[in-house]
Amino acid sequence: IKKVFQPKPLVGKNVIVTAGGTKETIDPVRFIGNRSSGKMGLAMAKIARDLGAEVTLITTVATNLGGINIIHVQTADELMTHLQDTFPDTDVLVMAAAVADFKPINVADQKIKKNADNDVFTIKLTKNPDILKTVAATKKNQFVVGFAAETQNLLANAEKKLASKNADVILANNVSQMGAGFNVDTNRITLLQKNKQPETWPLMSKVDVAKKFWDFYLHR
Ligand code: CTP
Ligand code: CA
Repeated sequence: IKKVFQPKPLVGKNVIVTAGGTKETIDPVRFIGNRSSGKMGLAMAKIARDLGAEVTLITTVATNLGGINIIHVQTADELMTHLQDTFPDTDVLVMAAAVADFKPINVADQKIKKNADNDVFTIKLTKNPDILKTVAATKKNQFVVGFAAETQNLLANAEKKLASKNADVILANNVSQMGAGFNVDTNRITLLQKNKQPETWPLMSKVDVAKKFWDFYLHR
């Protein structure tokens, strides 16, 4: 059978997808999180699997998907460690995780009690590593896809991320728009690439975004 009829065009490709919001530890029972559902990343992973790729999903989402190698993590630091282990052998990285920009400086080893002297409780935060930037800086032939979540100046901000993070593609979405981004089933994406005009896709389901992305990847 001719190659054009190959129904699984990602056979032989190693794909890593990161998905979900990181949970930054405060104490043994608490974390700082965000509203990311992980749906966009999960859809990216499933479609890649359906197209024949060997998929590793590094995620904070409690999920179990057949035919996908899942690594469960909580914090940005854990996500980074696992990604650094797996990245050298991958062909494509889809960085859909909503990584917390900051984490508590100190992690309490016991549950923090409320009966402190003060009514005000302060948690000091420190910056997390920029995982995408750190990992993509080591890239050889890997195709690296980042996301950009913006509430304003979408194009300008996403262009900056494309340049500064050494990504091949940025999928930008306006998370303040109805039906796009966090914790919904649909998304409105603008795809940015170096030296090409940005492409804005219509509002569609996250599964359709994933199909359209892998189609773009295969025909780029
Ligand atoms: N990202 C990352 N590590 C971080 C923060 C973000 O790898 N510490 C990745 C995200 O997974 C995403 C991309 O970088 O693929 C853009 O994330 P975003 O939050 O939109 O941008 P930031 O660079 O964090 O900048 P800001 O939040 O200030 O807009
Ligand atoms: Ca951020």
